[in-house]
Amino acid sequence: MEGCPWQTVSSKKGTKKRINKIRTEIGGEGTTSWESGCQDNEVDCGKIKLKIQQAKEELTTSTFWYFCQRLIEDCFSKFVEQIKEKPSFRVEDIRPGEEPSSTPLHQQDTQLVPEPGEGALGSRHEFNCVCYGVGRFSSCITSRYQLALLLLLLEKLQVPKHRCRVFDPLFSRWEIAILQALGLTVVFENEEGKHKILTPTIFYMIHCGKALYNNLLWRNWSVDSLSKVIIIGNSFKRIEERLLARILMRDYVYISKILKQTEETAFPEDPQYLAMFSDTSVHWFPVQKLKEVPSEMWLPAEEPAYLECEELEIIRNQRQGNKIVGP
Ligand SMILES: C[S@@+](CC[C@H](N)C(=O)[O-])C[C@H]1O[C@@H](n2cnc3c(N)ncnc32)[C@H](O)[C@@H]1O
Repeated sequence: MEGCPWQTVSSKKGTKKRINKIRTEIGGEGTTSWESGCQDNEVDCGKIKLKIQQAKEELTTSTFWYFCQRLIEDCFSKFVEQIKEKPSFRVEDIRPGEEPSSTPLHQQDTQLVPEPGEGALGSRHEFNCVCYGVGRFSSCITSRYQLALLLLLLEKLQVPKHRCRVFDPLFSRWEIAILQALGLTVVFENEEGKHKILTPTIFYMIHCGKALYNNLLWRNWSVDSLSKVIIIGNSFKRIEERLLARILMRDYVYISKILKQTEETAFPEDPQYLAMFSDTSVHWFPVQKLKEVPSEMWLPAEEPAYLECEELEIIRNQRQGNKIVGP
């Protein structure tokens, strides 16, 4: 495999070492790749764009993509039904002490309000997309195929590329330039996954650290928000199987609490694309299931701190003292 700093998602041990190694390479903990980008060796952007295009073309003709499309159609048509039925905002979704517009603008979804017209799968809704942790696609073939699949998904779901925000703290400045040239919106702030959504949003975060999923759930911890979220990422079921219940509850309480309310469908397993898409599922949260739980579950909840977590698999935002107000 081309030089991937990350090999598999399942090997827990060594993840921290790899993060530290990469941090050292890019200039120390908390230093982001765009700061250190000027030290990067120049890469041939044209060649990398071509490789992304080739990966896209290869995927398009694969049976893997054929089954992926069927899966996406199935999950998204149910999801779209749900958001069609549901007014975007309802009184019972306000949690105690929360005003509908109480979140400061800078903390809200900045991609914003869907334009009118037909959107994904014939719905009048249009999606936003947030992609975390795709990795260093200029040198890593796994990351490149994940990026290629993201581009295919955006096309399939008719999500304009500029409505897809992309962030990985390890991107080099060349990778940022390529993503921008592809029309995607590169984000320069490490939100640690704490992205507050306002409109239906697809989170594409393959092989990311568990804390990223947990943070994203925390930030959108209400019936209204979660019913508009789709997560394409590490199987929640597998996370539950692999971790001791006590640890899951202690470190990743939002994943733990939402398991029963999650509709999860695994990606097709194809030996050719195993390294790229192993352990990946589409997750969404049927509104009926979200409403089944006692309302106390939706009370304002504590921001995850990971104080006892032995191996936090994500790179934290050092500048903000890790604090983002919300959810
Ligand atoms: C295990 S690697 C997976 C990389 C790639 N998706 C793959 O499967 O090879 C986890 C990725 O998450 C990224 N990451 C770590 N902290 C992050 C954060 N706070 N926000 C977004 N991405 C993050 C890492 O830089 C890395 O690229």
